[in-house]
Amino acid sequence: MIKTLPDFPWDLLAPYKHQAQQHPDGIVDLSIGTPVDPTPELVRRALAEAADAPGYPATYGTPALREAAAGWLGRRLGVTADPAAILPVIGTKELVAWLPTLLGAGAGDTVAIPTLAYPTYDVGARLAGATSLAVDGLLGLGPATPKILWINSPSNPTGQVLPAEHLRKVVTWARERGVILISDECYAELGWEAEPVSVLRSDVCGDDHTGLLAVHSLSKRSNLAGYRAGFVAGDPVLVKELLEVRKHAGMIMPAPVQAAMTVALEDDEHVEEQRARYARRRESLRTAFEAYGFRVDHSEGGLYLWLTRDEPCWDTVKTLSELGILVAPGEFYGARGAQHVRVAFTATDERVAAAVTRLTG
Ligand SMILES: Cc1ncc(COP(=O)(O)O)c(C=O)c1O
Repeated sequence: MIKTLPDFPWDLLAPYKHQAQQHPDGIVDLSIGTPVDPTPELVRRALAEAADAPGYPATYGTPALREAAAGWLGRRLGVTADPAAILPVIGTKELVAWLPTLLGAGAGDTVAIPTLAYPTYDVGARLAGATSLAVDGLLGLGPATPKILWINSPSNPTGQVLPAEHLRKVVTWARERGVILISDECYAELGWEAEPVSVLRSDVCGDDHTGLLAVHSLSKRSNLAGYRAGFVAGDPVLVKELLEVRKHAGMIMPAPVQAAMTVALEDDEHVEEQRARYARRRESLRTAFEAYGFRVDHSEGGLYLWLTRDEPCWDTVKTLSELGILVAPGEFYGARGAQHVRVAFTATDERVAAAVTRLTG
């Protein structure tokens, strides 16, 4: 199995990390999108209060959790979802990596993924023994009919947000061909210059979720990456199928995390606070990188700035590492990223200020 997986690219960044660590004021690590701010107090309390959990939890999640997820979809994304068609997952990376397998994809099947993408879509195709095909838009697929088509808006790494009009076309295309369309919406509440749209919204899919799945994570909205909490919603038949396989496979979200996730989904105040922090950091970094000579492409949503100086990404990585700033080379996300770097704004205010000083000083 391991032979079918790509080399872990982050090892290539190690020398630049070492270089950045030599800076007298320490490294500013903007290479990974991992939250650094505290998990909200009310969520921690819910986790602790649910600590007594001697029995097995339900793979399907508690009814309260599914209600909370449906409520959140309605309130924040304008989606009408049936709580019965919602299934908790142990962080969405797990789901992304196993979804093709869980949906029965295998040898001879194609999984279409964006040309610039979160690497786990490709991993998921490989784990299933299927073939992944990186495509730029539907035309890139030609006559090919994949079993699964992944989209991701706001995008990791580019921050591109797909408008409703575009999503409508993708839904129509997928339906005409019986392709399962999976929309990774883990940055849905992090729109800056464009409003992220869910594929499950009625103006996109006409109130019919057949053939559609939307994947949602609480890692970024609620600083909950360490809890491993997310869910999938959409086509009731597909969700039921996933539930059945996951029950057999023991892919069960722990009961205390289910309780914490329920509370997190019912509260928006902590999300607004977190959004405000990210908006400030994003603005500071954007201004500083532009002053240094970078162009910002896309980046309308999500947790990243997609930057270029129209030079090979490794040259940029090197230059910035000498300033003590570590960023991710665009190449990690696809060949089309060869001249970009991805800058995460998941760093503390103090570290962001240090980066700004180094870039503008
Ligand atoms: C596009 C995308 N999807 C899914 C994930 C997985 O998130 P998690 O496993 O924390 O839910 C990430 C994490 O960075 C991501 O960028």
